[in-house]
Amino acid sequence: MAYNIAVLPGDGIGPEVMAQALRVLKVVEEKFGFSCNLTEGLIGGAGYDAAGHPLPEETKEICLKSDAVFLGSIGGPKWENLPPELTPELGGLLALRKLLNLYANIRPAVIYEELKEMSPLSERILTDKVDFVTVRELAYGVYFGQPKMLEEDEAFDTMRYRKENVEQIARAAFDIAMKRDKRVTSVDKANVLSSSKLWRRVVEEVAKEYPEVTLNHQYVDNAAMQLMLNPLQYDVILTTNLFGDILSDESAAICGSLGMLPSASYGESISLYEPSGGSAPDIAGKNIANPIAQILSLAMMLESSFNEDAAAKAIRDAVDKAVTGGQRTGDIACGGKSITCSQMGDILCQYIKEA
Ligand code: NAD
Ligand code: IPM
Ligand code: MN
Repeated sequence: MAYNIAVLPGDGIGPEVMAQALRVLKVVEEKFGFSCNLTEGLIGGAGYDAAGHPLPEETKEICLKSDAVFLGSIGGPKWENLPPELTPELGGLLALRKLLNLYANIRPAVIYEELKEMSPLSERILTDKVDFVTVRELAYGVYFGQPKMLEEDEAFDTMRYRKENVEQIARAAFDIAMKRDKRVTSVDKANVLSSSKLWRRVVEEVAKEYPEVTLNHQYVDNAAMQLMLNPLQYDVILTTNLFGDILSDESAAICGSLGMLPSASYGESISLYEPSGGSAPDIAGKNIANPIAQILSLAMMLESSFNEDAAAKAIRDAVDKAVTGGQRTGDIACGGKSITCSQMGDILCQYIKEA
């Protein structure tokens, strides 16, 4: 049995962290007796530079023929002044999410006991393990709503949701909550935004299908504060595309580093797995990025797309062992000794082989 995976390293640290994740994949393939056909494609600035488009036709074909897409990250200063439709963000990543109709973006935030000192939150707040998941709507909202316009002296975007868009993501969140602590916090701005008033009403309706799940609502400004004051209150955060983008970076910071936060994006068939963070131009090319978010995204792929649960667990166990044992890249080194991106790859491969 071979799984077909589209591999899109992208820009900045993307290729660096992807290289380590692919080494880990090789090790788990051997250890757990499955194989993957990897087909590499260009995306983002790399796609624009080589093929004149951030999502070249060939990349689309590779993705549509695959069982899952494994993405690094896209973007960087070199491409930020291109026309919007040719930027790595809109023309590359968002176009790919739309192509695959990826409406549910799952970003699990878990704090490691040993990384509590990297959290900006004090011990007074972190009295227990932070463990919640952001379920971010990914295919609609202000990212995609039409009309959009950008002119010299005026610009606008449209934050638009249809009832069925909200139903779909709300069901995804409630389904996840059913497998967890059965609590959903829906985050919106229903005191101001029409799209949020609809959001709240539809989420309330969907909640009736899940009588075991407790639902509460928070306005996004309060939620941003509550995350800092009491992150332990959350089990599943259900929110819109833009708010989920912002709150998930905040959740990463709470847990120590954006370099630790993986993500999975689900649609009707082909899923996409990528770190929650970006191409980190400030540290790109130095072999110092944290590859763990990429590697934990691989674990999510093996589990969700291929049911290779043992391989996913072996990866997570290796990450636990590395972090617990003080093997850390600079972003999580707590001021102590740090290892490089590729050394983290070495160690994780070694731990998986030895286990
Ligand atoms: P960023 O996520 O790239 O970086 C923010 C900060 O987090 C930086 O200090 C960076 O060094 C750090 N960081 C991120 N990942 C890290 C890792 N693995 N290890 C260690 N540190 C890490 O966000 P930004 O600087 O606002 O954006 C840079 C570019 O990335 C932009 O072009 C943006 O559009 C793009 N971006 C892409 C994605 C994606 O591909 N999914 C996500 C976010 C941002
Ligand atoms: C993310 C990123 C993207 C987003 C950008 C690069 C388009 O920030 O995946 O979180 O806003 O969704
Ligand atoms: Mn983001």
